[in-house]
Parts: sequence; structure tokens; C-alpha cells
Amino acid sequence: MDASATGGSGLKPLRICFVCLGNICRSPAAEAVLARLAAADGLEVTIDSAGTSRYHLGESPHEHTRTEGSRRGIAVEHMARQFAAADFDAFDVIVPMDRANRRDLLHLAPTEAARRKVRMLRVEGEDIEVPDPWGLAPAAYADMFDLLETACRQLLTDVRGSG
Ligand code: 4NP
Repeated sequence: MDASATGGSGLKPLRICFVCLGNICRSPAAEAVLARLAAADGLEVTIDSAGTSRYHLGESPHEHTRTEGSRRGIAVEHMARQFAAADFDAFDVIVPMDRANRRDLLHLAPTEAARRKVRMLRVEGEDIEVPDPWGLAPAAYADMFDLLETACRQLLTDVRGSG
């Protein structure tokens, strides 16, 4: 999914891409959570997600991600893809889910300007990692959504006005 929430401001929408390893658990969930928050606020933003790996190319989000999302009224629809260097031009803000993802993105970044687009999620002013729930029970996915809802609300506050 390339989710857009249109506020009708006429400004070029801010473009945000979430990145995890497989692009089937954390980053598609983050994409869907932020899309819902942005739509509720009437904020114009273009949102996508990608993985640093090719492990699950073309796959739908993980079953536990979809199930926990729909329990919360959030449809998580995406086809897994690998993050590419060209994505540094396509997005304004690139949000890794953990420090390994961040390291991989920084290695791929072709320029200092590209590196500056990479920023972790934050809670109460501190960079945070979203723990990888892959292979864990559904409860880990509920924890993941709880953390994403808090951190994506903060992300929206942080980027508001910068697009
Ligand atoms: P994600 O979770 O990075 O949040 O999508 C993972 C999905 C698959 C694998 C690792 C993490 N894997 O090794 O296949």
C-alpha cells in the first residue's frame, strides 16, 4: 500500500517511508498506523514502507500483523518490497524500526543529505527501537501496535509543519 491521507492544503505532501527487515511485520504496521492518525488529523502525507532484505518480496503483511491491525480497526495492506537507494529521493523522512535497520540504511545512503533523512521513532524525546515480533506469539504484535501508536503520534507532531 502507498497510503495517502489528503488534507486538501494544496501543499506537496510530506513523504514518509518506514523500514524494517522483512517488510511484513513492523514497517507495514507503522505505515497503516500513521495513515490512520494522519487521516484523523486531516494531515496531507504520503506513507509507504519497505524492508532492508529481500526475504519476503511480494508477500502480504504477516498474519499476526493483519489480525492485530483489524482488531484495532486498522487495515494493514501492503506488498513487501526492498528499500532501494532511489527511495532516498522519493521520501523526505525515512524511519528505521531498529538500529540494525538504521545502520543498513546509512550504508545505502548515497549522500549526506540522504543520511539526514533517516531518523528513529521517538517516545518522550528518546530514540526508540520497535522490537522485532517475527516468530513470536500474537501478544508481541499487540505490544508492537501499542508502541507504534504512541511513537507515530509523536512522529506526526514532530513533522507537522515541516512538510
Ligand atoms: P519485520 O519482521 O522486519 O518486522 O518485517 C521480520 C520478518 C521476517 C524476518 C525477520 C524479521 N525474517 O528473518 O524472515
